[in-house]
Amino acid sequence: MWVRPARRINGRIRLPGDKSISHRAALIAALATGGSRLSNFSTSQDCAATLSCLTKLGVSIEREGNNIRVEGAGNSGLRAASEPLDCGNSGSTMRMLAGALAGQKFTSTLTGDNSLRSRPMKRIIEPLEMMGAHVHSEDGKPPLAIEGNALKGIRYELPIASAQVKSCVLLAGLQAAGQTEVTERLGITRDHTERMLQWFGVAVETKASPDGSRTVMIDGPVRFAARDVDIPGDISSASFFIAGAALLPGSKLEIEGVGLNPTRTQFLSTLHSLGLEVDMSALYEGCNELVGTVGVFAGPNRESGEHRESRVVNGALIPQLIDELPLLAVLGTQISGGIEIRDAAELRFKETDRISATVNNLRAMGADVEEFEDGLAVAGPINLRGAKLDPHGDHRIAMAFTIAALIADTESEIVGVECVGISFPEFFELLDSLIER
Ligand code: S3P
Repeated sequence: MWVRPARRINGRIRLPGDKSISHRAALIAALATGGSRLSNFSTSQDCAATLSCLTKLGVSIEREGNNIRVEGAGNSGLRAASEPLDCGNSGSTMRMLAGALAGQKFTSTLTGDNSLRSRPMKRIIEPLEMMGAHVHSEDGKPPLAIEGNALKGIRYELPIASAQVKSCVLLAGLQAAGQTEVTERLGITRDHTERMLQWFGVAVETKASPDGSRTVMIDGPVRFAARDVDIPGDISSASFFIAGAALLPGSKLEIEGVGLNPTRTQFLSTLHSLGLEVDMSALYEGCNELVGTVGVFAGPNRESGEHRESRVVNGALIPQLIDELPLLAVLGTQISGGIEIRDAAELRFKETDRISATVNNLRAMGADVEEFEDGLAVAGPINLRGAKLDPHGDHRIAMAFTIAALIADTESEIVGVECVGISFPEFFELLDSLIER
């Protein structure tokens, strides 16, 4: 697909439901007793994979556009699937479903596409086995055979800052005897699982410690009832439009009804600290999540070329903008002094190696980039040039480099853009409706 440079971005939009929240709403509604209506459910292929796996496990799901009705099977009411459960490209589906299946009375096989079958699963196998489940895999990679078993609660400190691992253990904890405790010391990750469980009436306690760590506790086994959920717009999908509007002078963009959970808004705070005009307004709480409007306004001139020190984004901030890091690197090319991203080795284990994909595509556009094992440093400001770009089948790389192509001086060709459907099938259509050329 060819992408031409744009003059500015203008408009007011709403976005399909948050992918992370949709996965959790579907999984938790499936484990509840009774029917839940999930509105503004994510249109992503990833969340469709979660629904399809749940259907194969005997959960009745009706879908009408973006509204879903899930007839919960109860915490121990899932049925053995007659075939392997295909999680597609979705790490969230595999890791969270594994937690829900660990305490069932049957064996399940979880598999996925080539990308997912190369991603690390030891991170969930270890805690699930500590809880009493048997998980078979080769080299800690999918497919996973999960032999359900009676589980017991554990105290677990996350060895990697991962919301998927935390959620896997908490969902297993719903069926475990006694207390399950998960501590995050390396950084606080998105807390949608905790919030969604609370919304469904499950007593989830959280404790913040003076050293900055956070512990989440659940007493199992737990039974809980169905509940309707309104899912806010996806802030990670919004980030691409926000970055485009922040970079193209004269832009004005408002995104309404978007999820503004503080564990997901670090990208907005970082833009703000880089001197870009981004604000949040019309805040309200819906279904135990903060929701509101994001406004972006790009004044007539970009930042001046005066040299500044490179800004470093690292440490505990990383888990809070993990999905926005490739986009932040693109933004770094337009910021005086550039940007350095460190402590982000996890990016190498995403849908593709996102450090290498970002570095290679930025270099193709003429950027001056240094690659590190745990991140990258990009110099700025520079004029990006149009180039042939390869997202390696990774949706977020494809969208980040579409934004890069909008600010480049000539057109770019992006190969394999259909991968955007993994998280955001409407991306190009919506972007076209906002762009002025
Ligand atoms: C997600 C957690 C993050 C994120 C992914 C969605 C979630 O993954 O990158 O896109 O919904 O919990 P990790 O937990 O592997 O960091």
